[in-house]
Amino acid sequence: MPSATDIISAAVERALGAPAMLRPCADPKFGDYQANGVMAVAKQRKENPRALAEKVIAQLDLNGVCEKPTVAGAGFINFKLLPEFIAQQLSEPVAKTAKPQTIVLDYSGPNVAKLMHVGHIRSTIIGDSLARVARFLGHRVITDNHIGDWGTQFGMLILGWKQFRNDTALAADPIAELERLYKHVNAQENLREAAKQELVKLQQGDAENLTIWKRIIELSEQQFDATYARLGVRFDHTLGESFYNPFLADVVRELQQRGIARESDGAICVFVEGEETPLIIQKSDGGFGYGTTDLATVKYRVETWHPDLIVYVTDARQQLHFKQVFATVRQWLPNPPALEHITFGSILGEDRKPLKTRSGENVKLAELLNEAEERALTVVTQKNPELPEATRKQIARAVGIGAVKYADLSQNRTTDYIFSWDKMLALDGNTAPYLQYAYVRIQSIFRKAGTEWEAPQRPDSRGTEAAPTLELTHPSELELAKQILRFSETLNATLADYKPNWLTGYLYDLAGKFSVFYDNCPVLQSAEPVKSSRLTLCRLTAYVMKQGLNLLGIDVIEQM
Ligand code: ARG
Repeated sequence: MPSATDIISAAVERALGAPAMLRPCADPKFGDYQANGVMAVAKQRKENPRALAEKVIAQLDLNGVCEKPTVAGAGFINFKLLPEFIAQQLSEPVAKTAKPQTIVLDYSGPNVAKLMHVGHIRSTIIGDSLARVARFLGHRVITDNHIGDWGTQFGMLILGWKQFRNDTALAADPIAELERLYKHVNAQENLREAAKQELVKLQQGDAENLTIWKRIIELSEQQFDATYARLGVRFDHTLGESFYNPFLADVVRELQQRGIARESDGAICVFVEGEETPLIIQKSDGGFGYGTTDLATVKYRVETWHPDLIVYVTDARQQLHFKQVFATVRQWLPNPPALEHITFGSILGEDRKPLKTRSGENVKLAELLNEAEERALTVVTQKNPELPEATRKQIARAVGIGAVKYADLSQNRTTDYIFSWDKMLALDGNTAPYLQYAYVRIQSIFRKAGTEWEAPQRPDSRGTEAAPTLELTHPSELELAKQILRFSETLNATLADYKPNWLTGYLYDLAGKFSVFYDNCPVLQSAEPVKSSRLTLCRLTAYVMKQGLNLLGIDVIEQM
């Protein structure tokens, strides 16, 4: 079934002969949607915009969809949906995309032999959420974790491993020991040459160095995987930079032959319009770099998965890198896919400086998640002291991890944000615990009613189940129903703008509207058919809340 926005947009477009530019009304007093497309056309045709809007309205056939549209301001058209139409639409709260695309999502990408720190969390959490939303909308999504498992640091790591390794320390905390080895070698000028030799040997395929290199990757991946398991994040592929080593020389040769790359100061470079610094694809010592690898990666992905779109999620510091890589790809590959670099700002401490521990070190992700769970346990225990400890811990896990993720996802990703435990764990406000608690409250209605709630199935899998009958009479019922309807368009906007904060804001509003409904409309005390209708609204709200949180990578809980 087409959505309300599809139906209205199509009708306006037909009458206007130009895009409707429909968006939700800023103030519900004026209606549910507003079409903004009239003004541009009126200007073009030198017509009065309000008169043109009236003409468009006269041609619209939206019987059964909305009330008679009204003209507002300088030619806006406002639409108010009919309760019957809303009720009918609610039988299918989410429609899959009509145009499924193949999307490769590249996010997380931590570096081997280094701890994942809090800076990596944003890429992982934002990327994971975007992947979930895209999949849910019906796209074919391939996630690939481009880990940093190659590069000059391995010269120092291998030298350190051979000469300075402490096996006890390595067994206790492998990454800490690897970081120590790297720092130790890096700090000594007189070890530079030996480290370089180890790197050359690795690059030439020396068996011993390859074994050490593999071991270092293995140890790192164990740590990454433990973190991903805690976060509930998984990848379809973890190819990593080293996977592309065999292709790099060919990439450089091809780009040179095609005249896309040229020599400059002994290095092979691609100069991109508007940028003084070139993308170096082969250094003067013959080595390849991060950019060369990314070029080979695009080619591999195109040939293997034929994506329509590749999305990279990294912090804003890599903007120039991706600009150069994308520009090169567009000159190089025939029919290149769409390429998007999705950036995000830093996480700041309450002092507004980049988040650090009290002793000035980078905050480690694992420690941050431990603290989140501990603090959540305190909150849960205050609220529910009588629950058994194991249950409280389980709840605290969902709440703590959920709070960290939500705090991140609910920010406009392009700005820096201030990390605050108290804010993210608050039970009132735009937080994960608040939404998780809203879900628990709806569950308790069903417990009282003595019925299990069943999540409405997705329309495509619903089979023969009858559409729910809804009687939307109280204004708060209508408001809630409309909010549920907006789930679909919210998901589309979230993916189109790569902004999970559209979804968090939506769920927050949903919880608010549910609360108003629940304060105003008795559910279990009402007589039929109102009772069933209201239970259906509760069920739909619960479904959207659970599904929405799931798309943010956040678990719901049954009690709190
Ligand atoms: N390892 C990189 C870093 O830590 C991120 C990788 C991003 N993906 C890519 N294809 N370059 O900055």
